[in-house]
This record gives sequence, C-alpha cells and structure tokens, in this order.
Amino acid sequence: MTVALPASRIADPAQAPALRWGVLGPGRIAEAFATSLRAHTRQVLAAVGSRNAARGAVFAERHGIPAVHGAYEDLVADPAVDVVYIATPNPFHARCALLAIEAGKHVVVEKPFAMDADEAQRVAEAAASRGVFAMEAMWPRFLPATDVIRQVLGAGSIGDIHAVSADLGEYFAPDPTSRLFDPALGGGALLDLGVYLVSFASFALGGLERAAPERVIAAGSLTETGVDAQVSIVLQGEGHRHAHLFTTLEARTPTSAFVTGTRGVLEVHAPFYLPSAITVTPHGGDAATVRFAQHRPEDALCFEAAEAARQIADGRTESPLMPLAETVRIMRTLDAVRAELGP
Ligand SMILES: NC(=O)c1ccc[n+]([C@@H]2O[C@H](COP(=O)([O-])OP(=O)(O)OC[C@H]3O[C@@H](n4cnc5c(N)ncnc54)[C@H](OP(=O)(O)O)[C@@H]3O)[C@@H](O)[C@H]2O)c1
Repeated sequence: MTVALPASRIADPAQAPALRWGVLGPGRIAEAFATSLRAHTRQVLAAVGSRNAARGAVFAERHGIPAVHGAYEDLVADPAVDVVYIATPNPFHARCALLAIEAGKHVVVEKPFAMDADEAQRVAEAAASRGVFAMEAMWPRFLPATDVIRQVLGAGSIGDIHAVSADLGEYFAPDPTSRLFDPALGGGALLDLGVYLVSFASFALGGLERAAPERVIAAGSLTETGVDAQVSIVLQGEGHRHAHLFTTLEARTPTSAFVTGTRGVLEVHAPFYLPSAITVTPHGGDAATVRFAQHRPEDALCFEAAEAARQIADGRTESPLMPLAETVRIMRTLDAVRAELGP
C-alpha cells in the first residue's frame, strides 16, 4: 500500500495582487525578502525605512526602491505604502508593528512576532481595533510543501497523530556583538530558531492550533553572554500528543522533522522549515515521496508576501494559515519554555 500524495494548492506568488511594500529595517533578512519579491512576484517595493538614511539609500539603490526614509516614523506615514514588512531585531518587532498599525498600515512582522505573548497580544489587539491586516512572517507556513503536509495530516493518511520530533541547530561562532548572542537584541537559540520548531509542532499536532500545550518541559544551557545556547523541549498537547524539539546555536543538526501517527510516519526532509521533500510511509506499506523546487530563502519568502497580498486585497485582517491567536499561543509556549529554563 502507498499513500497518494496530493498536489500543493498554493497559488503561484506571481499571481497575487500587487501591493506597495515598505521595508522597515533593511538588514540581512530584508535583503532576502526584497530579492525574493523582485524575483518571484509583482509586489512593489515602494519605500525603505532605516535609522540611517545612507544605509537605506544603499538598500534602495540595490532593489530599485524609489523612496528612502531616514526614520521609521516617516516610512509608516508614507502614503505610497500599503503594507510594512518589519525586519528589525526581535525586541523591536512589537514597537515597530504598533507604529505602523497606528499609522493605518497593514503589517507583516518577522518571527518571532514579539518578545512574549503579552506583547504579541497587544499587537494583535491594536491591528484588530485599527482594522488592518497583521501576520507573523513564519514563512514555512505558506510554502507549497507545507500545504502538502497540511493535506496529508488533514486526510488522516498517517492516522491519529501521536508525536512530532524536530531539531534546528546551526553553528554560529560566538560573537558578543552579533544580535544572536546579545540579550539586549533578543538573542538566543529559542527565539531565533526554536520558534520554527514550536510553530511546526503547533501546525502538525493540530491540537496545539486550538489550545496551548497542557504541559511544557524544557532544559537548556546559556552562552557566556547569557542567552540560551541550546534548549530541549517536550510539549504535551491535547490527547497526550507529544512534541520533542531541540535547538542550538552551537552545532549543526540534521534539521529534519518527523510526524508519527497510528498508521504511518511523515518525514519532512531537511531542512524541515524549507522542505526539500516529504516522504509518507504507511506502516507495512511503501514510502511515497514528493520533492519541492524551493531550496533557498530567496525562492521561498515570496510565498508569505503573496499570502499577505491576497488576504489584504480580499479585505481580510488575518491569514487563516497563520492566525494571530495561534501566533500568540506559540509565544505563550515560548514564554513557558523560558520560565522552565529559569532566570
Ligand atoms: N525569516 C527568516 O528566515 C529570518 C532569517 C533571519 C532573521 N529573521 C528575523 O529577522 C529579524 C532581523 O534579523 P536580521 O538577521 O535581518 O538582522 P540584521 O541583519 O541585524 O538587521 C536588522 C535591521 O534592523 C534595524 N535595527 C533597528 N534597531 C536596531 C538595533 N538596535 N540594532 C540593530 N539593528 C537594528 C537595522 O536597520 P537600520 O538601522 O538600517 O534601520 C538592521 O539592519 C529578526 O527578528 C530575526 O529573527 C528571519
């Protein structure tokens, strides 16, 4: 027996209605985002906002962006901008999102959406009361591969789900000046990498989409700068479904993910956040594999932008693929992990 794997239902990003984007915080990920939009969509990069106008001008020049603002306040006030992509370090996400929302702009906010659940909730409430769209830029959610996983799990092809296991570790040379190692810039494995794991567990376990885990267990260690270096997490969700997650800044890990059900196993081939392939193996049956074309963030970030553009054009204030309530719940789980790790 083999499971017939469905086709992705995600539309070509090039078909999404063109919105005018303002890029707030032209750093490393903003570079990949802008490159992806230019390569794969009709989205318009209308303006960039930097704390330093000269830095903004270099980014604008590279991406053919017509307007440069030397202050974030000016970017969010720009009438030529429909939606602001927020790509500052973690501790500034909520503040920048609120700035844009108060100016009446839609927002797509880099992961993690905020530093904790209370902050995330404040942004969600502000967007709701202003009637603008807000979404966490949790880019794996919007990929064709993820839609195949969504359909396989939704159809019950591997039976009742019991466990998710996933790891995400990268080696970063210790550098106290890097935001990853700096507590003041929200550094640490958990918020930078671990958020992908908890988000995947929330997505794949189903139950976590509707309720926070019943139990959160975690152990970890710190870097010399005092941010979490590596963390092991066990989540127990509805119906005693488990997630086993591991993240580290100190070693490269396989970055694969497995979802185990009563009737089979779904493997998300590395890296699970940008799957090269998915294999579904029913117990006692033959494996079926489907491969995917996106191999670089520059070919993948366009999907989150296209999703935002479609939802905004349709007058919606959230994406059903990454609802704000789930983003807040994921933040609450991360809060619980941090509480387990201690002060
Ligand atoms: N989706 C993904 O795959 C992915 C990958 C990497 C990072 N991220 C997320 O994206 C965010 C940015 O990460 P990044 O790696 O792009 O960071 P980065 O290269 O350091 O860029 C961050 C930008 O934020 C602005 N900024 C505002 N206040 C700042 C401050 N106090 N210190 C430093 N920069 C400040 C800076 O732009 P101006 O000074 O010019 O305004 C800077 O260029 C993080 O939240 C991270 O979690 C996502």
